[in-house]
Amino acid sequence: MDKSFNVAIIGAGKMGRSHARTWVQAGHIVRSITDLNEAAARQLASVHNVNKLLTDYKAAIEDKEIDIVSVCVPAGMHAEIAIFAAQQGKHIMCEKPVALTLEAAHAMEDAVSRAGVRCALGFQLNYGKNLDIISGLIKEGAFGNPLMIQLELIKEVRPNLAMHNKFGNNGPIVDCACHDWLFWETAIGSKPKNVFARGGIIAKNRPELAGIKELAIDTASIVLEFESGDVASMNVSWGLAKNTKLFSRFARVRGPEGAAELEKNETIKQLLGDREEIVSAESNLDPRLNMFNHLADCIANNMPVRYGIRTGIEQLTLSMAILESISSGKVVDLDYKTVQGANR
Ligand SMILES: NC(=O)c1ccc[n+]([C@@H]2O[C@H](COP(=O)([O-])OP(=O)(O)OC[C@H]3O[C@@H](n4cnc5c(N)ncnc54)[C@H](O)[C@@H]3O)[C@@H](O)[C@H]2O)c1
Repeated sequence: MDKSFNVAIIGAGKMGRSHARTWVQAGHIVRSITDLNEAAARQLASVHNVNKLLTDYKAAIEDKEIDIVSVCVPAGMHAEIAIFAAQQGKHIMCEKPVALTLEAAHAMEDAVSRAGVRCALGFQLNYGKNLDIISGLIKEGAFGNPLMIQLELIKEVRPNLAMHNKFGNNGPIVDCACHDWLFWETAIGSKPKNVFARGGIIAKNRPELAGIKELAIDTASIVLEFESGDVASMNVSWGLAKNTKLFSRFARVRGPEGAAELEKNETIKQLLGDREEIVSAESNLDPRLNMFNHLADCIANNMPVRYGIRTGIEQLTLSMAILESISSGKVVDLDYKTVQGANR
């Protein structure tokens, strides 16, 4: 670590707790915790002996001591807080999805670019060692091509109900699938070209969701074609019947020469003919810690981040195309050349 930074955590929920723990683990100092819910802020502050508790994010960010703002609030608030942080010259670690609309994401990108600060998005899956290993195997042609990638993201209704709200985190297609798409486009080194999806809301009659006016799509089958000709299919659902013991597999990849099964941040089982080899077992590595170390390095050395707002905009463009395909019943083409810009 080149330098120790002072961090303000905005949002003391699940991700706020995770960010605070990881910043401390990475050797930085959490100076303040902010949440509209004072009890949540107090609880998290007590874990890390932080004595500055706030309810107003602006006061937290204006604090001259703060170098980095960790944005851990619901997605609809990311842009407002990140823009304010950039305007105050603060670097940003912002959770994904970048925002709920492309308009908000572009405003965020503009503010970050004008201020010349660094902004990383929380795509921690892309900081695990198994991404390097699977990319290496793909590059050396271990599986041949074209590749067929099978992804599964299946869970019960999320306990954080905002995840199911169209105006909250807008369901798994916007909130969650972006981790997996980014992992695979990085692994194969190619961008999505078009997408076809069918889906709906299968948990609509669940009593715990009754208070939500507009539910997000919670279930879909998605087929995505990459510019390389490789194809990925994903089954995604946050509507599994209560207590069903069906656990999703992270990924399977296969080509004419071989196949592999991946567990998230854990093992890669490589299958070539009748040979079976466990290529990696890395459950002790913490990709989020790698991600925070990367942002701190980029700030200290004035370098662009690997996965920033630009990556977030591309992923949100893909999420919107999936939703468009579900609503139109048509294949939707993607053209990332029109999504220009760079991560900062
Ligand atoms: N990277 C990942 O794997 C991952 C996993 C889960 C969630 N997330 C993302 O992290 C973000 C936060 O999710 P979470 O699960 O921690 O939610 P959460 O509901 O557990 O916590 C959010 C907190 O933000 C607070 N808050 C809301 N508005 C605020 C404001 N204006 N000022 C200060 N505090 C405010 C809430 O009171 C709450 O305590 C979301 O964008 C979500 O998509 C990322």
